[in-house]
Order: sequence, then C-alpha cells, then structure tokens
Amino acid sequence: MRIFSGIQPTGAKHLGNYIGAIRNYVATQERGEAFFCIVDLHSITTDYEPEELREATLSLAALLFAAGLDPDRSTVFVQSHVSAHPEAAWLLGSVTSFGELRRMTQFKEKGEQQEFVSAGLFTYPVLQAADILLYQTDLVPIGDDQRQHLELSRNVAERFNSRHGEIFRLPEALIPEVGGRIMDLQEPTKKMSTTGGTPQGTVGVLDPPETIRKKFKTAVTDSGTDVRHAPDDKPGISNLMEILAIVGGQELSAIEARYDGQGYGAFKDEVAEAVVAALDPIRLRYEELRADTAELDRLLALGAGKAREASAPTLERMYERMGFVRP
Ligand code: TYM
Repeated sequence: MRIFSGIQPTGAKHLGNYIGAIRNYVATQERGEAFFCIVDLHSITTDYEPEELREATLSLAALLFAAGLDPDRSTVFVQSHVSAHPEAAWLLGSVTSFGELRRMTQFKEKGEQQEFVSAGLFTYPVLQAADILLYQTDLVPIGDDQRQHLELSRNVAERFNSRHGEIFRLPEALIPEVGGRIMDLQEPTKKMSTTGGTPQGTVGVLDPPETIRKKFKTAVTDSGTDVRHAPDDKPGISNLMEILAIVGGQELSAIEARYDGQGYGAFKDEVAEAVVAALDPIRLRYEELRADTAELDRLLALGAGKAREASAPTLERMYERMGFVRP
C-alpha cells in the first residue's frame, strides 16, 4: 500500500498538525510504502520571507524525524527537490476547472486574509493533486480541513483517467474521527492555526512545558461545570476532551465518567500534563536533530532520490497519454 501526505514548512507547527496529521504519519508508515513531503512550493502562495522559508524547511524536516518518522522506512523529502510535482501540476491543470477551484473553502478563507491574492493560491489544489497522484497513493493521512482538497484530487484523477485512459489510482483520505479538527484554545469555534487562530490559543509542538501549561490554564471553557463531549454546546471542553483522548489514549466516555461532578480545574491540568508528556520528548529530540544540518541534508537528499524514482514513471505516462513528443 502507498501512503502519501504533505505538510507546509511555513508557520510554527501546532498541536492541531500533530494530532490531526503528524501522529498518523508515524502510525501509517508501518502499513506500507510511505512518502511524506515538505511542501515548500505550496508555502510561496501567501506572503512569506525567503530567509524564513529556508530555516522553516529544515526545521520541519527535523520535527518530522523527531516525531517518529523513520528514514529507513519512510521517504521524507522536500517538494521542490522533485520537479515532477510542478510538471504534473501543470498537466493536471488541463483537467481541473476554474469553477471547482473557485469553490475551494481554503482559497476563499485565505484569499480574504491577503491583500495580494496570488494566482498560486488559486491553483494550489492542483499542485496538491499532483503531489498525491504521482505516487499512485492509496491512503492520505490528513486533518479534516484537507477533506475538500482530497475530494478535488479524486475528481481530477477520475477526469484524467476517463479522458486519457486509466493512469491514476484513486486515493482515500484518512481523517481521525476524534482530533481531525483541533480548535483554538481561546476561540474554540475556530480551528487551531498559526495564520487564522490566536497566538495564546495555539499550542506549538515546540513550545516549552511552561508555555504549554499556561496556554491550557487560560483556555476558554464553556458555561456550566460538566466535562461532557458536545461540540455544538460545549466547544471549549469538547476540544480539550478530544486532545486528552488522543494524547492520553483514553475514550471520550471514560473521561466524562472520571470527571463527573468535579468541575473544570483538575481536568484542564490533566490535559496540559498529557500534552507536555507527549510533546516534550519530541522537542528534545528535535533540538538534537536540528543542530546537525549536514545529517538533515543527507536524509533529505536520500528522500529526494527515492521520491524522484517513485514519481517518474507516472509523470512519463501522463506525457505520453496526453500526446507529447518525448525526447
Ligand atoms: P498544512 O500544512 O496546513 O497542515 C498539515 C496537516 O495538519 C492538518 N491540520 C490539522 N488537523 C487537525 N486540527 C487542526 N487544527 C489542523 N490544522 C492543520 C492538516 O489537515 C494537514 O493534514 N494543503 C496541505 C498540504 C499538502 C498536502 C498535500 C496534504 C500539500 N500537498 C498532499 C496532503 C497531501 C496543507 O496546507 O496542510
């Protein structure tokens, strides 16, 4: 089985990325041949600083290895190292409609936040489809906010297959039922995000323990005192419960039963401690790995080589089926 996912290097990685995606990268790498892509080409579609992009790319590589991606098992690589991605994106642009790109909620939301809306922000999902389809991917571990992009990738693949003959496998999304959409701790009706959320409500994967504890202590809770999972009525508490369920390995019903009649205080402390216990070892490993830039360069060169080899046959078939004269 082929597994593929992508993650943007820009913006500090947060607990939502960890719970919704990175944890599942680590879990799924056991299930087949896995590719994890640091999507630097996607990160230039909104305002960014070139110097920061460089650092953010290496930092994310170190973070992914620190979180448990095993370079002997998984192919971890940087998107811009494999030119098949933008090439395939251009080709797939011919089977993607303006109308379907215009309907993408991420384009609408991010577009509203920008003064300058780039053409790249609009065609972003075509590059994402190329990422996934080039690897004949079966399974794509993602958070809930990427559901629509995955659906678009499937539609693009189906359209290409029916116009030019079966080339692409149709990928399935793997979205966690609990934790697929972690919310901002200060504004729990918004998803946790470094671009759209609040700084105090966004827990960084690399935040030190004291910062994490403070963010949970000041997390917004709901009226009432019962610890109950009801996302519509109690978005703050439900979000904290989902975080504890995943990082503490507990059932939502067991958390409800344990805190029956006890109020919020002790519950919030337990969530904070469970998050510190999950993230602190990652932060410590990250610091070691990030210090060794030569080793990161080596691992990323290895990943790029494997990714080029795995994607080349599909790109070649695309060109042939589409009627290009090949050199
Ligand atoms: P990105 O970099 O914004 O996020 C990386 C992963 O984290 C998930 N995620 C969340 N999960 C739960 N709760 C949250 N609050 C939360 N915020 C983010 C995202 O769903 C994602 O899985 N377009 C993609 C990158 C991409 C990609 C791909 C993904 C490019 N090509 C191919 C999969 C396959 C993005 O911007 O993710």
